[in-house]
Order: sequence, then structure tokens, then C-alpha cells
Amino acid sequence: MSVPELKIQKTQNSRLADFDFSNIPFGKNFSDHMLIAEYSEGQWVSNEIVPYGNLSLSPATTSIHYAQSVFEGMKAHRDEQGHIALFRPEENFKRINRSGARISMPPVPEEIFLGGLNELIKLDHGWVPKAEGTSLYIRPFMFGTEPFIGVKTPNRYLFVIITSPVGAYYSEDVSVYVDDTNARAVKGVGAAKFAGNYAASLMPVDAARAKGYKDVLWLDAEQHEIVQEVGTMNIFFVKNNNTLLTPALDAGFLPGITRDSIIQLAKYLGYTVEEARWNIHDIVAMIEKGEITEIFGTGTAAVITYINRLGFQGKDYHFDPSKYMVSVLLKDTLVKIQKGIIEDPFGWVKRVL
Ligand code: COI
Repeated sequence: MSVPELKIQKTQNSRLADFDFSNIPFGKNFSDHMLIAEYSEGQWVSNEIVPYGNLSLSPATTSIHYAQSVFEGMKAHRDEQGHIALFRPEENFKRINRSGARISMPPVPEEIFLGGLNELIKLDHGWVPKAEGTSLYIRPFMFGTEPFIGVKTPNRYLFVIITSPVGAYYSEDVSVYVDDTNARAVKGVGAAKFAGNYAASLMPVDAARAKGYKDVLWLDAEQHEIVQEVGTMNIFFVKNNNTLLTPALDAGFLPGITRDSIIQLAKYLGYTVEEARWNIHDIVAMIEKGEITEIFGTGTAAVITYINRLGFQGKDYHFDPSKYMVSVLLKDTLVKIQKGIIEDPFGWVKRVL
């Protein structure tokens, strides 16, 4: 399929000079430009980088009514020499098209996703922060735009990339509530980065917050027993300081790119990784025997976030992240690879500038 040549319209009013890089919250500030590509009636009809701004949509836009929307989360990092690199961008490109296929979307061509992203990052390179724990978060997303109220696969879409300088997603260690009543998603859609999965998580997460927890650890939608993910992160348990236990991919939860990176990195560093269908009762039994020494989550936004408390069926299990060793080493190594501080033995880091 032919793809329109990328057009670039630069902003006349850059906000960069006024941006306070000393205090960066997650996801509230956006860089000067965004990429927008439109698909209509079987072809890509436009492909542009334009100044960041509002979209104008019909109130009948299909995705507003029927949630046909998928997204990605990626990061660009600045290394000590000032070079900018993306982390495993091809994996996000492949995943958005897997997610889109599940909800009947046409694929985004590589030239638009990866080609456009590279140009966008080059143009907004000044927005990639330098400080430890910061990066440029990248949010590609795609949604149906046909103005039509009937339920059918629409014939118009927008693919958009916005970017946002960010600090930590979680500013502190996280407590999780194991929800054994609600489900985040069923198999199939659960593995898609599909907007509706995140909408479905909101009410149970609010309920967990009202109980004093920060987030929910989801179980499978059928038995409510098999450990899945946290919703913003994949989950890992460290057993006896040397073995990582994590759910095997089962189409019910997100196949995280950071999850995959941590599995590869842990094996490279000599740890054992067991991917399996972990029953929450077996995990809790291991916790009660003192075998689980660390719990942590992985994600693009969350990087590695330490879990300090797990609540299940009226009992709280406490962990002390200041004593964590395995997850601290994994986080430190991953961040150093991403920031170009140590060699990348995996070929994950893709220099843009
Ligand atoms: C990410 O880690 O990039 C995510 O998409 C998780 C969350 C911010 C929704």
C-alpha cells in the first residue's frame, strides 16, 4: 500500500523555553509537535507532523461510542553525550498492529509509525529531559473516526503520536489489592493494548484505592485465581533471592516489552525465570513460608516499581523494598542500558540523534 510522504509543519510558538525541566510530573505536559496520519476508505490519505493541538471530531465518531481505540507506550532517552535513543521501538510497532487487528483496525505502515516517530523525535529533541529518572514518554494511538452510529468496522481512522517529558509514573513504592471478584479483560482482548481494558479497570482500582491500596493485581477472568498483571505493569515475584516467577503469556494480559526485557536480562545475569500459570493461593502460600523475597512490577511508564504490600482476602502481606536486591540490580542495569551508560548486549537501544 502506498503511503503519503511525510509533511512537516513546524510550530511558530515553541513552548520549550518556558518548560520547567526541574519538576516533571507524569503525562501532563506535551512537546511542541505531534504526528497525525489519516486512513480513509482503504488507504492512508495524509501523514503529517503538525504543532501539538486539539483534534476536531464529529460527536458521532465511532470510537467515542464503541471504544475502538488502541495505544502504545514507549520512551526516548538522552544519554550522557546528549544522543537520543528509543528503546525497542519495533516491538511497539508490532504490538499496536496486533492490538488493532483484534478490534478490526487496518495496520499502521512501518513508514508512518517508525519513520514518522523518528522525524518527530528529531524535531522535538529538546523536549527529551536529561535528569535521572526522566525520559520522553511517547504515546502512539489509533482510533476509528467514521461519523456513524451503527456498530460496524469503520472506514476512517486517525493514527496519532504525541510525546510528553516525564518523571516517574509511580513516585513511591506501590501497594496492590488482589481483586478476586472483578476482571480486567477476557482472553484475546486482554493481550491487546485496547483502551476498553483500561476503562474496565477504573472502578475496581477506585475501590482498591478506597481500601488504601494504590493499584489492583488482576486475576484471570474465568476462575479468578490465576495471576495476570497490575494493569499498568506486569508482575514478578522473586523466590529465595534467585528465581523470578511471572505469569506465562496467556492472551489475558499485556505482553509487556519491559516484561520481556526483564526476563531476558534476568537470564543474562544468571537468574532463573519461571513463566507459568501462577495460582494466587500458591503465591500466598509461598509468601507465608517466607519464600517470596521481593515483588515488583514492570512497564514502560513504571520501569521497575517495587511492591511493598499485597492485600488478599482480608490479609495484608508486607514487603520491605529497602531490602530488595534482585529487582534493584535489574532496574539499575535496565536503566543504564536505556541511557547508554553501559553496553547494550541485546541490540535494544536504537539511536535517533
Ligand atoms: C505504559 O507503561 O506505557 C502504559 O501504557 C501503562 C499506562 C501508563 C497505561
